[in-house]
Amino acid sequence: MFINGIGRTKFGSLSKSLTGLVYEAMLGAIQDSPLEIQDIDVIIISNFLGGPLNGQLHLNSEVASLLPGMNIPIIRVETACASSSVALNQASYYLGKHKNIMIIGVEKMTGNTLIPPTEAIAMAGDCDLDKNNGLIFPAAYALVAACYMNQYGVDHDVLEKISYINHKNANLNPLAHFYHKEITYDMIRKSPMVSEPLNLFDCSPISDGAAVIIVSDRRYSDRDISVLSTQIATDSISLAERKDLTSFAATRVAARKAYGEAGIGPRDLSIIEVHDCFTISELVALEDLRICEPGQGAELVYNEDITLKGRIPVNTDGGLKANGHPIGATGLAQIYEIVTQLRQEAGKRQVDDPEFGLAQNIGGVGGTCGITILEG
Ligand code: COA
Repeated sequence: MFINGIGRTKFGSLSKSLTGLVYEAMLGAIQDSPLEIQDIDVIIISNFLGGPLNGQLHLNSEVASLLPGMNIPIIRVETACASSSVALNQASYYLGKHKNIMIIGVEKMTGNTLIPPTEAIAMAGDCDLDKNNGLIFPAAYALVAACYMNQYGVDHDVLEKISYINHKNANLNPLAHFYHKEITYDMIRKSPMVSEPLNLFDCSPISDGAAVIIVSDRRYSDRDISVLSTQIATDSISLAERKDLTSFAATRVAARKAYGEAGIGPRDLSIIEVHDCFTISELVALEDLRICEPGQGAELVYNEDITLKGRIPVNTDGGLKANGHPIGATGLAQIYEIVTQLRQEAGKRQVDDPEFGLAQNIGGVGGTCGITILEG
């Protein structure tokens, strides 16, 4: 499977509607690709909160409204924050029967929402055992952070550094939610507590945005990027049913399968995008992806191995923390960034000669994980 077109909107608090965001990203991907819109055989749309926030479901038909007369198959995929990497994974099953598939990810989270975003996002977690006991998302990841800090004896400093590095990368990404927002350690440390031990700068923001990827069964040009593997894995939704909160089995399983399918290991990766919806999940991801041993993630962070000039640059676009987290679009935005880097088109945030990139996209608190490995 080859990626031949990518497009995305800026992320942030935007005035565009759900369909306005889709249209902009779709146009960008078609302009980037050698294909015309009429060449697209199937569309898969990823969206999590259209119903509860925007009062809009049946999004496949909503997309069809933008393409009068095409009448092609369009389907929607929803697996919470992992929706768009799972949509990309599903595209691989359509290739063979079809030549060119467009994958769209979109979320409209700000503005006049039907219910508050925090309540809507909580639908990605377990309602009975977790939410009814107060585990909405910041609290659930705060529990992960507390367990991790207790088990490995690290303090909040390391999370502050993760936040700082991601914001620094976002400052080089004009499409990021927090582009051109200068951040200092003082601002991070003094930011309000959200759910102990996580403060404002440990959290990804509430963002609007869309991203689009076009995949095909053949290579059309030298700019095409090869998808070596796309894998998904799952785990029980409730944290009450997990033995260990310092590691996510869904990431470990999907990553093991993806490395096997791609024929490479963690040491071969040039760049990675990880699902840092809260800073702690970046630390956990580094270990679950076997970039380092369990409990060694902090060392990578303190050694600046994860910076643009480091051994393994992480979240070069700013990550969910600072690039933003419009849920249904997030996994595809990670792919957008890796493709941009592998094509050597990332401008000021370009890393040196990347060859292989991996994206890790999580739904809920590790209930779903999509892993994608790309080769330039
Ligand atoms: N990081 C840094 N700054 C942030 C921020 C974040 N995550 N979220 C908001 N801000 C800033 C805003 O830019 C604004 O700054 P300004 O006054 O300079 O303009 C200020 O904080 C207040 O913004 P506001 O939108 O009122 O924040 P809020 O208090 O309503 O929301 C959170 C903050 C952290 C509660 C919210 O972003 C949140 O719920 N994040 C988590 C989302 C989530 O759970 N996603 C799914 C994960 S699985």
